[in-house]
Amino acid sequence: MLADSHFLDENIEVFKQRTPGSAKHIELASERIPAGVGSNLRYYDPYPLVIERAEGSRIWDVDGNEYIDFAMNMGAQFIGHANPKINEAITKQAPLGTMYTMAHQLELGLAEELHRRYPMLEQVRFTNSGTEATMHVLRVARSYTNNDKIIKIEGCYHGAHDDVLISVKPELIGRSGHPKYPATVFSSRGIPDSKLEEVLVVPFNDLDSVRDLLEENFNEIAAIMIEPVMLNAKIILPDPGYLQGLRKMADEYNILLIFDEVKTGCRLAPGGACEYFDVQPDLVCLAKAIGGGLPLGAFGGRADVMAEISEGRVVHAGTYNTNPLVMRAGLTTLTEILTDEVYDQVTSLSGRLAEGYRQTLNKYHIAGQVVEISPCGAVAFTDKSFKNWRELLLHENEPLFDTYWFGMVNEGIIPQPFGFEEQWSISIQHTEADIDQHIEAFEKIAPQLAETAKALEAAEA
Ligand SMILES: Cc1ncc(COP(=O)(O)O)c(C=O)c1O
Repeated sequence: MLADSHFLDENIEVFKQRTPGSAKHIELASERIPAGVGSNLRYYDPYPLVIERAEGSRIWDVDGNEYIDFAMNMGAQFIGHANPKINEAITKQAPLGTMYTMAHQLELGLAEELHRRYPMLEQVRFTNSGTEATMHVLRVARSYTNNDKIIKIEGCYHGAHDDVLISVKPELIGRSGHPKYPATVFSSRGIPDSKLEEVLVVPFNDLDSVRDLLEENFNEIAAIMIEPVMLNAKIILPDPGYLQGLRKMADEYNILLIFDEVKTGCRLAPGGACEYFDVQPDLVCLAKAIGGGLPLGAFGGRADVMAEISEGRVVHAGTYNTNPLVMRAGLTTLTEILTDEVYDQVTSLSGRLAEGYRQTLNKYHIAGQVVEISPCGAVAFTDKSFKNWRELLLHENEPLFDTYWFGMVNEGIIPQPFGFEEQWSISIQHTEADIDQHIEAFEKIAPQLAETAKALEAAEA
């Protein structure tokens, strides 16, 4: 199919001409570092951009190309790159020590601020990543309920540990199971087969499937873990009443409801998705935005559930936990930078971008739609609606998306992280001028997208 899309080939050719330094680095790095990158999710063909530095809304690659960055570290850089207040905070902290491995006062300050934003966070423990947060939260849930099984949503990503590298964005080939009762499939090799029994999978936005699993596995389920908005599937919003329905069902069947707010936390609203949708889970996981660009995660919730840790039944440990450099960055981020007022500003900039996309899609008759929530948005190259992972996978026009992504990058705009399942992230350092440049770039490549869409349609007919 790609062969029909000559603009994709041309865009990749231009990308290669502009980025020889990235190509060379990845080739050399691949000798010592698998795939030449620090995380599997960073690699894409022909090779990923290699970065030299970042500041504000901009990022520069090793060839000196400047980009306006709307990937923003997959949402983690909500406060923009090299935020001056964070630079100051870590410069102040470094001479006071970057690790204590003992209790210190910044911990309480951050726990209190998170509790202010998330009243359900009666108790919280800090981690170094979202993966650690979701790993520990499941251990706590299993211990509290004395059950091993977990329900997760098909397509949701919760990090890179064995319990959750399951049915993450699965391809719909082979034995993927019934749409309402998806098969549990591994998303990585090296995970014990026993996980297939322990992790049960349901589609997003389908309460009946959850109820059926709860009945079939009565008294065996510890928790349902969910991204309240699917932000690893472009943007899929919960249907009205869906999250509330999960809340009710969790109470009815005596299981725990866990919101993985690693991507949504302190971003959709000061109190994240819990505030935005006014639903209180039992436990919540946070990371990304809360650290202001430093590696900080957290998990917590009901004090009686977190007592599994305080009463010594569950281990949560880590040499680097709550290192003061990261904690000071987190505290500065949440108390001095992400004040309640900035949320309207980023939402309005994101809305301006969404509107620009809509107008251009219309003008060039490109089948597509824009999905958005707070500072996040994305263009989907389909006019069919999607309410879960399978529907997105079925409808999205991936070759067209790739043509778009490389076309935008060649115009000096990183429109979002690579991959149709990602989305743009507006930071508090983006400006209206940045948004307008983004729209102008899209307008510039729109004719090639319209032509590519037609060619792909003809090839399929
Ligand atoms: C919803 C969600 N949960 C968990 C994680 C894992 O977080 P980390 O990459 O910090 O380990 C991610 C990462 O993108 C995520 O999007």
